[in-house]
Amino acid sequence: MNVLITGGAGFIGSHVVRLFVEKYPDYNIYNLDALTYAGNLENLKDIEGFPNYTFIKGDINDSGFINQLFQDYQFDAVIHLAAESHVDRSISDPLAFVKTNIIGTVNLLNAAKETWADNLENKLFYHISTDEVYGTLGEGLFKETTAYDPNSPYSASKASSDHFVRAYGETYGLPHIITNCSNNYGQNQFPEKLIPLFINNIINNKSLPVYGDGNYTRDWLYVKDHALAIDLVFHKGEHGETYNIGGFNEWKNIDLVKVLCAQMDKKLSRPVGTSEELITYVKDRPGHDLRYAIDASKINTELGWKPSVTFEEGLEITIDWYLKNEKWLNNVTSGEYKNYYKKQYS
Ligand code: NAD
Ligand code: TYD
Repeated sequence: MNVLITGGAGFIGSHVVRLFVEKYPDYNIYNLDALTYAGNLENLKDIEGFPNYTFIKGDINDSGFINQLFQDYQFDAVIHLAAESHVDRSISDPLAFVKTNIIGTVNLLNAAKETWADNLENKLFYHISTDEVYGTLGEGLFKETTAYDPNSPYSASKASSDHFVRAYGETYGLPHIITNCSNNYGQNQFPEKLIPLFINNIINNKSLPVYGDGNYTRDWLYVKDHALAIDLVFHKGEHGETYNIGGFNEWKNIDLVKVLCAQMDKKLSRPVGTSEELITYVKDRPGHDLRYAIDASKINTELGWKPSVTFEEGLEITIDWYLKNEKWLNNVTSGEYKNYYKKQYS
């Protein structure tokens, strides 16, 4: 089987690529990534030489290139993770999100539709999405049947791409699955998202900018558990279905930040309370969603998935990884490293 994984040099994608390359030696895994600021081949250095792994540098916005790629490699399946993924960036530059998340996805759908036109059997377009498409929650949990109600340019672009995937299923019979997952954390996450940003800032004694009053709630899932869920859905999920994936693990931002601060004090042998002193309440994010929480009972009862690590375990693994990989942190934030890899692959 030839499997195209897009966005494989990014945070979640790198864990999915590694899992598939190591677990399925008889699959050919093609990792297509534009290596934007968020994509780093350092994340996959350990599997670079594997015979079933190929990296392809390319942009999903380039339809001619994408069509040719499908012709050349005759992919049987696509796991689509490439995206602009950060809400704050979507507020300052919505068009970049429209381009990659919507047009880029439609480019892939068109290429899959054309290439598979004569034989849709054993083909799959698996689209990775977010719980943010459902908007903000008061009471209750997001279910697969919850109406889409996106509030940020990021979630609006992801919602649109989800609709296109489903529409290609209805209109052209394209075999597809969509999963909507909660907030991920873990190794290789670019230090602009809450957890890695705050770890990096604590290491460097910089302030911890908590948006608004900090009483916003997110449901956190360890990234390797998301990768395992993707593996399961890819192989066992029913075509045409949607599955919600979540950690059964809701935290108010401020409570999570305080737990993180306490753990960082311990790890860095700093006096209790040192990191908490760095907390600074700052201006709120515009359109900030109050609460996300996933009902993951469908994937649990139908496919038997549940998270394998507790939040405490996952957070400790994550902190230890960032403390051990300060060079990675410095590289991805310095820009030099990215230029190096860009030169290698351009
Ligand atoms: P990321 O920003 O870490 O990685 C995105 C990757 O896509 C990068 O490697 C980047 O180089 C690549 N990319 C961006 N634009 C591209 C383009 N035009 N062509 C080719 N490659 C391009 O993102 P992530 O956090 O790993 O998220 C991966 C997917 O999972 C996204 O679709 C995101 O919406 C979804 N998701 C993320 C989370 C989360 O908490 N991070 C939760 C649920 C769903
Ligand atoms: P983030 O990691 O950006 O993920 P998302 O917006 O996709 O949920 O943010 C998680 C939560 O943390 C969200 O409520 C916004 C908040 N936040 C801060 O308070 N300060 C920050 O510097 C960042 C990046 C996020």
